[in-house]
Amino acid sequence: MAVGHNKSELEGDSATLASRVGDLSPLLPLAGTVATIEYPGKLSRERILQKVSVPFVSVDPAGTVRDDSVRANSLVWSDNWFALHNLLASGKKATLIYLDPPYATGLDFQSRDQEHAYNDALSDAGYIEFIRRRLILMLELLSDQGSIYVHIGHQMLGEMKLILDEVFGAKNFRNIITRRKCSSKNFTKHQYANLNDYILFYSKSDSYTWNQPMENPDPDWIAKEYPKVDSKGQYKLVPVHAPGTRRGETGGLWRGEMPPAGKHWQYTPTRLDEFDAKGEIHWSKNGNPRRKVYLPADKGLALTDYWDKYRDAHHQSILITGYPTEKNFEMMKMIVAASSNPGDLVIDPFSGSGSTVHAADVLGREWIGIDQSLLAVKTAIKRLTLGRNPMGDFVKGETPPDLFSEFKASTVQHETVSAEFSLLVDHEISKLHPAEVSGLAGLLPKP
Ligand SMILES: C[S@@+](CC[C@H](N)C(=O)[O-])C[C@H]1O[C@@H](n2cnc3c(N)ncnc32)[C@H](O)[C@@H]1O
Repeated sequence: MAVGHNKSELEGDSATLASRVGDLSPLLPLAGTVATIEYPGKLSRERILQKVSVPFVSVDPAGTVRDDSVRANSLVWSDNWFALHNLLASGKKATLIYLDPPYATGLDFQSRDQEHAYNDALSDAGYIEFIRRRLILMLELLSDQGSIYVHIGHQMLGEMKLILDEVFGAKNFRNIITRRKCSSKNFTKHQYANLNDYILFYSKSDSYTWNQPMENPDPDWIAKEYPKVDSKGQYKLVPVHAPGTRRGETGGLWRGEMPPAGKHWQYTPTRLDEFDAKGEIHWSKNGNPRRKVYLPADKGLALTDYWDKYRDAHHQSILITGYPTEKNFEMMKMIVAASSNPGDLVIDPFSGSGSTVHAADVLGREWIGIDQSLLAVKTAIKRLTLGRNPMGDFVKGETPPDLFSEFKASTVQHETVSAEFSLLVDHEISKLHPAEVSGLAGLLPKP
């Protein structure tokens, strides 16, 4: 048999296409060959995992720095390449890693009050290798029960899927989640308006932490699914028989009738009588029984891979930090709750405004947030200590939320966070930017 073609290709309906081998129809790779993505400068896994020792310091509210290492419940100002290497050396393992890296948009991002946040300048192979190297470190940092969620735009979705398959193994792919990020757009240039971004979900093994997220059904769904109502509530009618024959009671007579051919009663005749006595059997005009199933008060539906209820800030009462690309806090809480348990470690290596670490803190997880942007770290400290601001003030043309002015309890709604956390900084950054480091120290809660 020609290598690369399976038997059904050679002998089946497609035989005329597949049997002309050689120059006319070059062979396909062998079945089971893993596809990889190739480009110059792709480092080996071994090279990426070679120890990189960069010292870190912690900074206290008085601005005093001391040698330290990346550890649980810390915000880290650093390139995550160094911080992840530092963490690897500690042997600490995470149950959940969520990352929302730059998307290769080519844009510069600023906060709502026009402060520089970060550049999204990497593209092509440079972007791919930047992410891949860090994903290889993240794989090492995950516990065997761990999961990773990679949030990404359409720009690099295809490449990211290939890299993740390569690093985590295609068998550990769980979902590509489509997240509706914004409401309808009324203008787009000769192409379809983009409303979604994507989250690639992988686990480290097939035995991973999972707490099934449920959502409340829409009123429309309820009305369709449970269309009838009586004094006990909304209900639907379901058959009292099921496919397959049975020899016992469920295959025999009930109210003088046998189950329809090829079927059996779903319950014993005694149980069916009990339903009927409670008024829970509906008899059609021609005597066909069906059971009433009432809508439970806590009816939930398993969340699917299409998330349309987690849009980013879209109305004025939503609390935000003002950091660009800040993600929906409810979505972050849902991810943390689904893929970790209280006490587990959650890492966000591109933590931005701190959405993930805030969610992890609120839900009683340990956490580490890493970002190379000064504004990101400032914003995350503010958020964890003082809470976020309602977006409305800014939109209505009133004073924009000033993230770094004194907190005014009378005008700003804020959230309860228990966070007692450390600020860690790459030692070199602390040497090069002492004024910024002491500015960050000044934002830390006083003991
Ligand atoms: C899309 S934003 C993350 C937003 C975040 N999910 C939130 O809810 O606010 C991407 C972040 O990655 C950070 N970043 C980019 N390259 C980095 C690197 N090498 N190390 C650490 N952070 C990096 C940027 O500074 C930026 O804050």
